[in-house]
Amino acid sequence: MELDWGLGEYEGTGEVLLPVSEVVVGMSEPLAGRRVVDLGCGTGNAALLAAGRGAVVTGVDPAKRLVEVARKRAAERGLQAEFLVGDAGSIPVEDRAADLLLSVFAVIFAPDARAAIAEMTRVTAPDGVIRLTSWVPGGSMMTITQVAGKFMSEVFGGGGQPAGPKPFAWHDEADLREAFATHGFQVELERHSISVTAASPEEYLENSARHPMAVSSAQALASRPDGDELGAELARQLLVAVREVNEDPAAFKVSNEYAVVTARRG
Ligand SMILES: C[S@@+](CC[C@H](N)C(=O)[O-])C[C@H]1O[C@@H](n2cnc3c(N)ncnc32)[C@H](O)[C@@H]1O
Repeated sequence: MELDWGLGEYEGTGEVLLPVSEVVVGMSEPLAGRRVVDLGCGTGNAALLAAGRGAVVTGVDPAKRLVEVARKRAAERGLQAEFLVGDAGSIPVEDRAADLLLSVFAVIFAPDARAAIAEMTRVTAPDGVIRLTSWVPGGSMMTITQVAGKFMSEVFGGGGQPAGPKPFAWHDEADLREAFATHGFQVELERHSISVTAASPEEYLENSARHPMAVSSAQALASRPDGDELGAELARQLLVAVREVNEDPAAFKVSNEYAVVTARRG
């Protein structure tokens, strides 16, 4: 089942990830008068930055609650931007209507990557640009996420290697080049890094517990008769993992590389 990103409180993570939208929007200047689609806009990070630079913005996200937060933020900041409920499998935007299509850690969650790429290329104008970000595996932030993912797979099944083709790797140049080439697009990649800090590993885990994925996992575990023990075991494993990857012995810091992927017709 797909995750409802409206669960819990994505807002905190949105704040942490704002610097990535600043990087991506900064790379896309000038924006005045350009038609920008922010696919998987969440609470509106990239959309609102682009609107502030004079772009004509449409934010799209499947999570209704987050779309409402983004709308409210635009109104509070006096920014013009339209926000629609929709997803990467069927972007509610006309063909070739986006001069710039942004997707910050969002389209990477689409269940069918190739269908999402087809949709992104459909809505991008002839001289338009697609710019998305994807996590690069191996960093300390991803390591923590993987601990939770592995635990949940072991509890609910699907722990082994999935059958069939390997999943699409949104950070991988070869996968991206091949998938975008089908639509006549060329791809460039740039690596960046982001760090998250907290006063302690425990505080980091407390903050992370409000993330939609953590809330969804907690709900799933609570539905089982042994939910309390499983929840306690997951918490224990996460604490071991965050202490292990902590880069700041005096407090808490984790970092991760991410790829900024730029695709244009070529
Ligand atoms: C990590 S959040 C990023 C949100 C926002 N771009 C930001 O930078 O804060 C992931 C977002 O992707 C959205 N998402 C998940 N599946 C999606 C899909 N199939 N198509 C488009 N967006 C999707 C979620 O609803 C969520 O808002």
